Order: sequence, then structure tokens, then C-alpha cells
Amino acid sequence: MTTTPWWASEDMWRKAAIWITAVMFVVLIFLSFHSMSEIVAGTKRVPAYSVINKRIYYRFDEDRNMQVPVIGDDAPLFGKTLSEEDAAALVSYGKKVIQGRNCMNCHTLLGNGAYYAPDLTKAWLDPAWGAEAVRESLMLAFLKDPETNARTFGTGRKMANLELTDEEASAVVAYLKWMSSIDTNGFPYNFKALPQGE
Ligand code: HEC
Repeated sequence: MTTTPWWASEDMWRKAAIWITAVMFVVLIFLSFHSMSEIVAGTKRVPAYSVINKRIYYRFDEDRNMQVPVIGDDAPLFGKTLSEEDAAALVSYGKKVIQGRNCMNCHTLLGNGAYYAPDLTKAWLDPAWGAEAVRESLMLAFLKDPETNARTFGTGRKMANLELTDEEASAVVAYLKWMSSIDTNGFPYNFKALPQGE
């Protein structure tokens, strides 16, 4: 009579499946809570909102083999240094504009959204703005009237005019500046930043 070896027994595999599922369930819960604490503004990878008062640029990190954001000297957005609360309010308003106007119907942010138009995660650093000195005003003008102020972001497509007001467009710029400071582990891959004058 042949006896089934232990590693081929049905009972062993059933128990193994139950244990592995249970352990992975606990790991998943742990990772979910861990991720929640890592995505809060003011932590290691996601800077506080007042980062919009600083210059944000990119540097290639040899150890990580990817581009990582660097927070530099003072470079207040629209020339105005904001407190943490005011910066948080402006960035949050920008986020609401983006949600309210459904920009993600065409764009992606951190990879989420639609693939008609460029990913906006690093739009603040897009070389298409030409130079740091003119970026703020070009971005504002583009957002308020993308048809007249079209640049080429490499898509060959056109953005519709969403009739953003000055306040809405400025808040969107603040939101995009803050977003560009997030350490996204090299996303989007192969991203090239605006000339940085270094
Ligand atoms: C109907 C689709 C559509 C919608 C909706 C849309 N966009 Fe765009 N957007 C585009 C396209 C297409 C481009 C690229 C234009 C080009 O290549 O010249 C673009 C470009 C941009 C850029 C420049 C991207 C870069 O790489 O620097 C920004 C910033 C931007 N859009 C912001 C927004 C915001 C903010 C909203 C919502 C208020 C929005 N877009 C809504 C289609 C859209």
C-alpha cells in the first residue's frame, strides 16, 4: 500500500491555505494603516503645505536610482509667504477646483484618472514652461485660457477652456506646486524636470 507523503496530503494544503489567508489578511490591515500614516501632509514623503513657500527641484539619487524631489530655499508662490494654515487652505481649495471641474476626466494625478492628457503630478516642473522665472505666470495664463495660451506638452491635443477665475487658477497652481514636492518613488518614470539653473 502506498501512503501519501505529508507534503502531498489534502489536509496539509487545506490548513496551509487557511493559515496563509489569515496571516495575509492581518498583514493587509497593517499595511493599510501604515500607508494612511505615510500619506499625511507633513510627513517624510509628503511635505507640509507650506512647502509652496519653497523652491522645489529634482535631483538624481544614485542610491535609489531615481529622481527625488529636493526642497530648496525660499521661493514664495506669487511672491507671498503663507502660514501653514493659509497654505493648507489654498492647496485644499485648489484640490476642490480640480475635483469640482473634473480635471481627472482627462488627466491623471498620482497615476489616477484618465489618459487623454498628461499626468499632472509633476506638472509644476514640466520643462514645457520654459524657465522657472516665467512658470507661475505661464501656468496661470494657461489655466485661465488654455486655447490662447496653449503650449506643447507633447500630446498634440488641446485642453478645453474651463473658464477658471484668477482665484481658482492660482489655487490650482498652489496645489500642483505642493504635489510636485511629493516623493513618489520615481513616478512618473523617466520624468525630466524644468531646467534648474544649477
Ligand atoms: C477635455 C480634457 C481636459 C480637461 C477636462 C482638462 N484638461 Fe488639462 N490638459 C488637457 C490636454 C489635452 C493637455 C495637453 C495640452 C498640450 O499638449 O498642449 C492639458 C494640459 C494641462 C496642463 C499642462 C500639463 C503639463 O504637463 O505641464 C495642466 C497644468 C492642466 N492641463 C491642468 C488642468 C486642470 C487644472 C484641469 C481642471 C480644471 C484640466 N487641466 C482639465 C486636457 C484637459
